[in-house]
Amino acid sequence: MPHPSDPSTPQELLANWSPESWRDFDALQQPAFDEQEDLDRVVSQLRQYPPLVTPWEIDRLQGQLAEASVGKRFLLQGGDCAERFDECRGDVIANRLKVLLQMSLVLIYGLRLPVIRVGRFAGQYAKPRSSDFEGRNGQQLPAYRGDMVNAPEFGREARRPAPERMLTAYERSAMTLNYIRALGEGGFSDLHHPENWDLGFVTSDKLRDEYQGIVDSILEALRFMEAVSPSPISDTDRVSFYTSHEALILPYEEALTREADGSAWNLSTHFPWIGKRTNEPEGAHVEYARGIRNPIGLKIGPDTSKSDLRTLLDVLNPGHLPGRITLITRFGANGIEGVLPGLIKEVRSAGHSVLWSCDPMHGNTETLSNGLKTRRFENILAELEQAFDIHHACGSVLGGVHLELTGENVTECTGGARGLQEKDLLEHYESRVDPRLNAEQALELAFSIVRKCRSMRNGS
Ligand code: PEP
Ligand code: CO
Repeated sequence: MPHPSDPSTPQELLANWSPESWRDFDALQQPAFDEQEDLDRVVSQLRQYPPLVTPWEIDRLQGQLAEASVGKRFLLQGGDCAERFDECRGDVIANRLKVLLQMSLVLIYGLRLPVIRVGRFAGQYAKPRSSDFEGRNGQQLPAYRGDMVNAPEFGREARRPAPERMLTAYERSAMTLNYIRALGEGGFSDLHHPENWDLGFVTSDKLRDEYQGIVDSILEALRFMEAVSPSPISDTDRVSFYTSHEALILPYEEALTREADGSAWNLSTHFPWIGKRTNEPEGAHVEYARGIRNPIGLKIGPDTSKSDLRTLLDVLNPGHLPGRITLITRFGANGIEGVLPGLIKEVRSAGHSVLWSCDPMHGNTETLSNGLKTRRFENILAELEQAFDIHHACGSVLGGVHLELTGENVTECTGGARGLQEKDLLEHYESRVDPRLNAEQALELAFSIVRKCRSMRNGS
């Protein structure tokens, strides 16, 4: 890997990169496939498949992320911790879109900013794990790494990493995206269809009233504009979604990397991110990501050193392109204050400009005595509010949030308007990996963001 003090131009630095150059680096979190031949067959099949997204969509997203980095837009990135093959269903997809749409409406109205909607969907099928193996009753089996790799049931065959699952992941991603695009084109997010904006899941009257107030005033403004405008307002009432996933299983990402306009693009998603467990500057994931033209999300945590962060930015964005890097911070409510200010200063002194986004989920995970993983709404909110304050105090901008949420009525995180407690969690606990906000908690968080930003603007 080139050293950051190397005087080469960004173009020269790419001369030693190719979609497969990551293979010469240490690749963490990769499944141990039994047969190289099976993997090669799957990869060559994936290479034949059509792209899922286009370079011009990716370019447009990068421009919007650049605007968010200077406070002219707000990034809302959210979705499941891991998608499941058996949840590639119309109702699940539509419900997830609905909650993201409703949150974005609250944010647009409350922040007076355009919102970039990015789903953790249509490809979020692989998970990094802290341990390669899981033991139960004296038996050791490979850990579940997401439906793209193996199955969650605790059995030898289920846990065998199967390369053909990558083909299924591609197919489910394509089906998901197809439905999302169809809903968008078909006017799903058109404000004139209030049935898509209703709050079936919300039990709190306060939240309901607050939300309905926003929908009513937007509808009123729309009617007014339609009354005075000769043509229908199509751009205001159509909403687009971008896709994102963790670029974890590198043979898959490599196979969907295509050349266009003299650049390499990962056309399986608009916005790939590098997870915290694979973000080391000398590693294969960073090597892969440095050569693709997509905007890159980079997760950083309490153990990310200032010097590593500087190296990562130099390697991933030697040309200092605006919107290229989104730093997704996940420190935990107790850790953020000690770490974030120093990292903000480091990025500035390195001469980089990034979009800062806060992931208040992954630093706040707890395991209960019954083995369930959960997160407390108050800790999620506390990290988010501190992130706003710290950026503000450092003269920086928090331009986005990264959340794990679902449109289903699950009970995985405690707290929120309905006051979910630990004893309620088993009612609808469905996640096989991390606990998600349910739709009501997610909407409540959107209102909290608005409240926080307004109080900052008012100087209180
Ligand atoms: C995730 O986003 O699901 C995840 C594993 O996060 P992180 O890399 O920040 O731990
Ligand atoms: Co997660």
